[in-house]
Amino acid sequence: MLSGSIIKITGPVVEARGLMGARMHDVTKVGKLGLIGEIIKLDYDKAVIQVYEDTSGLTVGESVISRETALAVELGPGLLTSIFDGIQRPLPAIWHEHGSFIPRGLAIPALDTDKRWHFVPTKKAGDKVRPGDIIGTVQETVSVVHKIMMPPFKSGVIKEIMEDEFTIEESVALMDNGDSIFMKQMWPVRQPRPFKEKLDPAIPLLTGQRIFDTLFPIPKGGTAIIPGGFGTGKTVTEQTLAKWADADIIIYVGCGERGNEMTEVLREFPALIDPKTGNSLMDRTILIANTSNMPVAAREASIYTGITMAEYYRDMGYDVAMMADSTSRWGEALREVSGRLEEMPGEEGYPAYLSTRLAHFYERAGRVITNGSDERIGSITVVGAVSPPGGDFSEPMTQQSLRITGAFWALDTNLAHRRHFPAINWIKSYSLFLDKIAAYYDANLTPDYSNLRQKAMTILQKEAELQEIVQLIGPDALPEAERTILEIARMLREDFLQQIAFDEIDSFCSLEKQFGMLRVIITFYDHALESIRRGVVLTQILELPIKNEIARMKEIPNDKAKQSLSELTTRISKEIAIIEVL
Ligand SMILES: Nc1ncnc2c1ncn2[C@@H]1O[C@H](COP(=O)(O)OP(=O)(O)OP(=O)(O)O)[C@@H](O)[C@H]1O
Ligand SMILES: [Mg+2]
Repeated sequence: MLSGSIIKITGPVVEARGLMGARMHDVTKVGKLGLIGEIIKLDYDKAVIQVYEDTSGLTVGESVISRETALAVELGPGLLTSIFDGIQRPLPAIWHEHGSFIPRGLAIPALDTDKRWHFVPTKKAGDKVRPGDIIGTVQETVSVVHKIMMPPFKSGVIKEIMEDEFTIEESVALMDNGDSIFMKQMWPVRQPRPFKEKLDPAIPLLTGQRIFDTLFPIPKGGTAIIPGGFGTGKTVTEQTLAKWADADIIIYVGCGERGNEMTEVLREFPALIDPKTGNSLMDRTILIANTSNMPVAAREASIYTGITMAEYYRDMGYDVAMMADSTSRWGEALREVSGRLEEMPGEEGYPAYLSTRLAHFYERAGRVITNGSDERIGSITVVGAVSPPGGDFSEPMTQQSLRITGAFWALDTNLAHRRHFPAINWIKSYSLFLDKIAAYYDANLTPDYSNLRQKAMTILQKEAELQEIVQLIGPDALPEAERTILEIARMLREDFLQQIAFDEIDSFCSLEKQFGMLRVIITFYDHALESIRRGVVLTQILELPIKNEIARMKEIPNDKAKQSLSELTTRISKEIAIIEVL
């Protein structure tokens, strides 16, 4: 092991001499306490180390030891249901031993080394295996089968393999060349895990949220950001997605946000029932908590730790969704460390490499054909919250992130103030995946999707234009057809787009129900316009009692929605058609 000594300490950044031969991103133990850090800059025998723990009390002259391995995470059975800090220390085990304060320099294995897992081989002695091949399975939780894969870069012929109870550190298979295969793998967090081929993502990630699935959908393997000012709904949205998105595995990274927000997650998630399996939601979830009171530099580690775990489950052939709340806190950490390094600052003090750093992270999302001889397809969808100061989307984190992600779900302070939730602005938001997903919906679900969505968006856009005129002259001066647009736009906003995350029925809306609801409103619109052309007055249409039924569509349970809504659509056509011209 290489050893050196501290010559300078500035916040989370420590400089040390004597580490000749150390490599970038090697893990170091800093000072008497052995604080965990990572080498981020080398200059002859001087190493600059970003320390992932509080550096107060550290003194010049204390030793620094390089472990000569890159910062890596432990991958294996036991990850699901876990709660880790940014550098993958298991928080519940620490709380159990030490209370709520993490002692500095604490080295503790991420995964339980005593627990025995029932390993069932899927290969036998004599089989030739390649990197990524599944050699056996373990029932990790009631909901998820953990595939034990040949580590990347390892191949050969299996000499011995058998079914038994193993810990993650016991060999489950012996290879001809003498190598042992374990259930635990280590993987350096900054290096993307290999795969065979990246696919074009085209299958929607269903979220049960109307504003997303119907208006701004994303595919499995896509990326989205949720920028929003203070208190506009970033956390509620990320949590709603974690609960309802139809992913097999959820990785939720609380990055630099207030402790109480994370406490809510920690308290709430284990109590939640997974709508897909009826089991605990935690059975398919990993939480990474790096709250604002934890060291700043570890925010970066928490993001990389999360995405590496996501890749590991992707490699098993699962659809993984990773939520990061908030990526802005990571950006701020980059800015702070860069400032301490006295690097030339870029826009608003962020380092010039902010955009490449973000790109490297988001590029690890995607839908891929995995390594291994039995072809599997897995995906990682990433949804990053962004917290622009003052809600101003022109700031660097929002701008750099939107350039490399596919969907922009813009939270709006005005909507949040008016308590229109989710406060996603339908004019500013977009999804670059729309065409692909629309083709998928049209072909597989309902042929009129594109048409319905297009009409809805046109009405909403028209409303935005008309609002200026209304402010000047009032709605009564508008022609009937335009007043109809305003009425229907209000219906779309209140009866379709508003969706309370905490409502028992409405928190999740099936696609069938979403399309049914939209069809009801658009049918109402089409028939209303037609009647107005006949000479019917708008107020006559608005007096129809059926309008109240539209306002209550949200209350229809998902399993009854298809029939109820199609009946409602038929009745709307009839009732509007028979209105007599006064
Ligand atoms: N979909 C929703 N349904 C119902 N209420 C919501 C929804 N989204 C947001 N809210 C309301 O807005 C409040 C603030 O939301 P949230 O905590 O998610 O904001 P935030 O953007 O994460 O804030 P911060 O900037 O402080 O992190 C919530 O407590 C809730 O009352
Ligand atoms: Mg929040």
